[in-house]
Amino acid sequence: MSNLYIKHATIVTPLGVAAAKGEEMKRLNVIEDGAILIKDGVIRYVGNSNPLRQLYSLFGKGATFKEIDAKGKVVLPGFVDSHTHMVFGGFRPDEFRMRLEGASYMSIMEKGGGIQSTVNATRQATIADLVENAEWLMDRMISMGVTTVEAKSGYGLDYTTEAKMLAAIGRLAAKKKIEVVPTFLGAHAVPEEYKGRTSEYVDLIITEMLPKFRKAAKFCDIFTEKGVFEIEDSRKLMKAAKSLGYKLKFHADEIVPLGGAELAAELGAVSADHLLHISDEGIKALAEKGTVATLLPLTAFALKENYAPARKMIDGGCAVALATDLNPGSCFSGSIPLTIALACIYMNMSIEETITALTLNGAAACGLADKKGSLQPGKDGDVVILDFDNINMLPYYVGMNCVKTTIAKGKILFDS
Ligand code: NIG
Ligand code: FE
Repeated sequence: MSNLYIKHATIVTPLGVAAAKGEEMKRLNVIEDGAILIKDGVIRYVGNSNPLRQLYSLFGKGATFKEIDAKGKVVLPGFVDSHTHMVFGGFRPDEFRMRLEGASYMSIMEKGGGIQSTVNATRQATIADLVENAEWLMDRMISMGVTTVEAKSGYGLDYTTEAKMLAAIGRLAAKKKIEVVPTFLGAHAVPEEYKGRTSEYVDLIITEMLPKFRKAAKFCDIFTEKGVFEIEDSRKLMKAAKSLGYKLKFHADEIVPLGGAELAAELGAVSADHLLHISDEGIKALAEKGTVATLLPLTAFALKENYAPARKMIDGGCAVALATDLNPGSCFSGSIPLTIALACIYMNMSIEETITALTLNGAAACGLADKKGSLQPGKDGDVVILDFDNINMLPYYVGMNCVKTTIAKGKILFDS
């Protein structure tokens, strides 16, 4: 297990073991000339560098510590990417080209492309193919400071392929590079073979899939959208998932304001995601229930859509998280630097709110705020060291990586 002592750092972190809501999101704790001591992968001390010598000797009995002098560098909690579809077969560059030439995301989907084309490729892939592709993506995420990632199934849409995807996600987790949070998304689309028979497919998920994936997945997610899974089908499926013990996530109000956010709040979901077209009632419901509003600005950017109303949500008391939505279709990007730039420039989130959204609130969206998302004793030693001494560099260096070192559970995974 990994012992690490980081000294002379400018430590910047939210604090707490639950999502920060509204006003709280801008509150960060700053320690100049700070130190962090990680023993056996867990943070034991965060504070001033000075008294560290004593603590160091206290823990040092027989234990060896690697030292990092972080003078002139900002140190943040590791980033949490709480919404990805990083496991998939095949790419869709031709579809992207069609969108550049004017086709819409939904029109491509209606013609049997979109999600269904990734389903076809994923059904052909082996577990090893899926893991290899996802690990390639994961290594790039790590270089951008990600220490926890959520990964969804949802490109199988039949029992065998959904099981294969969850097995691939399990293998990624077993590599123990970074924390991987598994989500079952059997209700990502209605598969070709069930076209026009949505409720039969919903019943298949409820009877054949949900009970069998309970161990492999922590969360159950659904694409609640007009023409995909509408409110009544979504309520039925997610109620069944909840009764089996899954935690809930929703793709909600992405294309039209259908009321997915309200449904997520009603069912006590951990998060509602996308929310480009959330209604005022939806904002109120998420704020009241403490359901994390996970915003995915890279997707809005790539689809040329307006951004989610982040300012309205934070001012309305919501806990907002930011994530990449990395997937082969609507948003083939896992860029944390661009997510930060878009949030600050186009969604009018402050730099402090953006940091909270990518750390503590991302952890809360994964049901992990007690272990991840802030630099505090007792939490996992997941740390990002920036190349710079100032958090303002994060959006200012637009779309560029500010990360020097990524540390997960006290282990250095990336160092530039
Ligand atoms: O979150 N909106 C639905 N699902 C994904 C896109 C998946 C795909 O296009 O392959 C999303 O954007
Ligand atoms: Fe998604």
